[in-house]
Amino acid sequence: MGYATEGAKACLEYGFNHLGFEKVYSFTSKLNIRSINVMKKIGLVEEREFNHPRLEEKDPLRPHVLYSIYKKLRNVFLYGIGKHAVLCNKRIKKLFCLRYFTQSVTQTHLDKPINGIIVKGVAMIVLSRESITQELPLEFNNLIIRELERADIDNYANWPMYQGYRKMFNSSLKSRPYCDREKRWNNYLNGTSSVAFILESKSEKTLGQFFLLDIDWETRSVGNMSIRLHPEYCDQGIGAMALKKTVEFVFSQGMYSIEFDVLASNIGAVKSYKKAGFSIKEEIEKDNALFYIMSIRNQCV
Ligand SMILES: CC(C)(COP(=O)(O)OP(=O)(O)OC[C@H]1O[C@@H](n2cnc3c(N)ncnc32)[C@H](O)[C@@H]1OP(=O)(O)O)[C@@H](O)C(=O)NCCC(=O)NCCS
Repeated sequence: MGYATEGAKACLEYGFNHLGFEKVYSFTSKLNIRSINVMKKIGLVEEREFNHPRLEEKDPLRPHVLYSIYKKLRNVFLYGIGKHAVLCNKRIKKLFCLRYFTQSVTQTHLDKPINGIIVKGVAMIVLSRESITQELPLEFNNLIIRELERADIDNYANWPMYQGYRKMFNSSLKSRPYCDREKRWNNYLNGTSSVAFILESKSEKTLGQFFLLDIDWETRSVGNMSIRLHPEYCDQGIGAMALKKTVEFVFSQGMYSIEFDVLASNIGAVKSYKKAGFSIKEEIEKDNALFYIMSIRNQCV
């Protein structure tokens, strides 16, 4: 470390820990690359450019740049996500828009264990299966939404048969060897691109399954879903209500969009998904059958 960096670092430490500063600014001419590098090395972040008012218009040193750094915050709470995120520090009772927050947000900064990173000065919560499932279970109208358990796979395989146009959705597990259930469970445990939600009621441990599949965590989009409601409970509005809750929940966690295809002839499903807020984005033909791509977007992100 050079002398300037070492000295500046010691000054910052003294300012924050002994003089009670909450924020420190520094500015220099844009031409002064060495000085800018020292600021960066000790953790300052660029705020904005400005023209130094005391220098002549033609002076090459006139264009300046302002850097700053906040005191490392403790007991910080993170609200919202992305651009809308703010940090609140109880002690100084101030809200910081994360755009101007210069420390990287890690588990140790947060009372609640949320993974966060700073991308170009903007805090982003890192989404993952775990970040979503740790917020479960959800309770509403005497129903629960929770994560898949091993027993749900057996319960699902033992559901009674769907009738009529829904027959094609009867579980293939019914006729496959028992070890396939174990395989399905292990595939889920070892996978990272899905989140399996189970709907539970007092009388049915596995009342429905709402699986988010093909998740792209970077774009926060769900590329497919598998949805099944216990055959004896269809057409009572439960599917639409549970899907709506599931979508609201994953959007509140920061997911951006969900889409999946559904057979156009599956009238009950299409109706249910529309009630849950989905709309038909596209019509496609696959294997001589018409499918709708149904989608929904998070309006808050
Ligand atoms: C798809 C599914 C989750 C929807 O949940 P649900 O609780 O049954 O659906 P809802 O009750 O919310 O909505 C279904 C609507 O379609 C209506 N409906 C069902 N079959 C219909 C038909 N043949 N013609 C017209 N309307 C029909 C229902 O009466 C209900 O209408 P309503 O809102 O006016 O009461 C559930 O039916 C299911 O698991 N189906 C079998 C598996 C399946 O199809 N999965 C989807 C694959 S993409």
